[in-house]
This record gives sequence, C-alpha cells and structure tokens, in this order.
Amino acid sequence: MTDMFSLEGRVALVTGASRGLGVAIATALASRGALVVLNGRDPESLRAVAAKIPGAEYAAFDVCDAKAGPDAIADIVKRHGKLDILVNNAGIQHRRPLTEWEDSDFERVLAANLTSCFRLSREAARVMLPRKHGRIINTGSVAGILARPTIHGYVAAKSGLHGITRSMAAEIGRHGITVNAIAPGYFATELNTALLEDKEFTAWVERRTPAGRWAKPEELGGAAIFLASDAASYVNGHVLAVDGGISVSL
Ligand SMILES: NC(=O)c1ccc[n+]([C@@H]2O[C@H](COP(=O)([O-])OP(=O)(O)OC[C@H]3O[C@@H](n4cnc5c(N)ncnc54)[C@H](OP(=O)(O)O)[C@@H]3O)[C@@H](O)[C@H]2O)c1
Repeated sequence: MTDMFSLEGRVALVTGASRGLGVAIATALASRGALVVLNGRDPESLRAVAAKIPGAEYAAFDVCDAKAGPDAIADIVKRHGKLDILVNNAGIQHRRPLTEWEDSDFERVLAANLTSCFRLSREAARVMLPRKHGRIINTGSVAGILARPTIHGYVAAKSGLHGITRSMAAEIGRHGITVNAIAPGYFATELNTALLEDKEFTAWVERRTPAGRWAKPEELGGAAIFLASDAASYVNGHVLAVDGGISVSL
C-alpha cells in the first residue's frame, strides 16, 4: 500500500520558518520527504535552522515586499521545476487598547498576516495551475474564530485569512489544488513571550483550554503533513483547529 502521508519529491516553501511554528512545520514536512525552502527576514537564523533539517534550503525575504515574494517563488521554480506546497505561516502580533491603535499599526499587521498570504498564494497558484496539483496551507489562528481584546489587527487579519482560504479553495479546487488553513491555539513561541511571562495569563490558558496546557510547536507538525499530503486530497477550504479544544468550549 502506498504511504498516503509521503511527501517524497515534493517542493515546499514555508514562510516564517526561522523560528517557532514555521520551524516545526518545515521539520515535519521534511520528515516525510519534502524538500523545504525556509523563509524569514534574517539569513543567519535561516542558515542555522536549515543546517538542522535534511535537504533544507532557505530564501530570505520580507513577505510584505510585493516583488521579493514572487521573485523567490520564481527562483524555486527555476531551480526545482515546480512548487508543490506553499505554507503561509509568517505573522506578527501587536497588542494595544483600541484607542491607542494607530492606522499604521493596523495596516502593518494586515500587510504581514493577510496581504502577504494573498500575494504569495496568487503567485503559487500561477505555478500550480498548469501542473494541476498543489497545496496551499495558511497558518490562521483561533483568533480568526474567537476574539480577544487588544489584538484588533490580528483578529481582522486571521479572520480574513480564513475567508480567503475558502474563496481560493472555491475557485481553484477543480484544478487539483487544495487551500486549507490551520488555526493554532496557544503555542509556546516567541510571538507569545509576553503572555508566557504573565503568570495570570498562563493560568487562564490552562483553565480555558480543555487540554489544560500550552501546546508545544512540534504538535502542529501532524496537521501540516496531513494537509500537504495525498491523505487530504479531498479536504479543501477547511480551517483545522489545532487548539487543545479551546475553540469548542465555553
Ligand atoms: N504561537 C501561537 O500560539 C500562535 C497561535 C495562532 C497562530 N499563530 C500564527 O502562527 C504563525 C507563526 O507564529 P509563531 O508563534 O511561530 O511566531 P514567531 O515565533 O514570532 O515567528 C514568526 C516567524 O515569522 C517570521 N516573520 C515575521 N514577519 C515576517 C516578514 N515580514 N517576512 C518574513 N518573515 C517574517 C519571523 O522571522 P523574522 O522575524 O526573522 O523575519 C519568524 O520566523 C503566525 O502566523 C502566527 O500568527 C501562532
């Protein structure tokens, strides 16, 4: 029987893979045989991560740069002949009371967490459509399903990202491409440093999450392998919560 979770021969670009969840996703995809190209803005940290993942390459660029992302995809296609899997994972957070949000803060969060995903997905689709195969996976968030105070730009971006996951799936699904999202709950990464250091918040996460704890980054890997693989060939437009049950409990 063929291994429906195999990613042998697949080429994947994972954005935001210099640390945190991106590293976990890239490591998981590589463990099933994919050639992964790691993205982030800092070449030095990417080089260090790539050294630990068999066969990994890296492409340092800012996902908010309208030219750099498409150029990086073109370069991957030039070198490897294709792009099978795009994981839009890079993201930023900004926490302020509503009245202290500047327009520029809101726009910066949307640019990094939403517009960049639209742009890279459009570029990936241009490459995937003629080959009638592709997997686009967006790192959404439980904050795209439920809201919290102070993270207005993030909630807007992640809700929008879940939305375009569906609209892209609806449009290009018939060409052998699936577009899905993973919605992580609370994972212990640098993005959440402030929350992890806040004992009260950590106690709240432990109380509020049915799993009773923060997640470890590697616990996201299985969902990424599933959505990238043939096992998920008929899963399209789905938002897969990996959140210890927080989004289904009151
Ligand atoms: N951790 C959680 O609990 C959680 C929960 C729900 C959703 N998420 C989502 O999961 C994703 C990863 O989060 P994380 O917790 O792993 O965050 P993290 O530890 O802060 O890592 C963020 C990654 O994104 C990269 N990045 C940020 N801005 C970028 C840009 N403009 N261009 C290219 N790369 C950029 C960072 O690299 P450089 O700074 O070196 O460029 C880094 O590799 C994000 O989309 C986040 O919203 C996280």
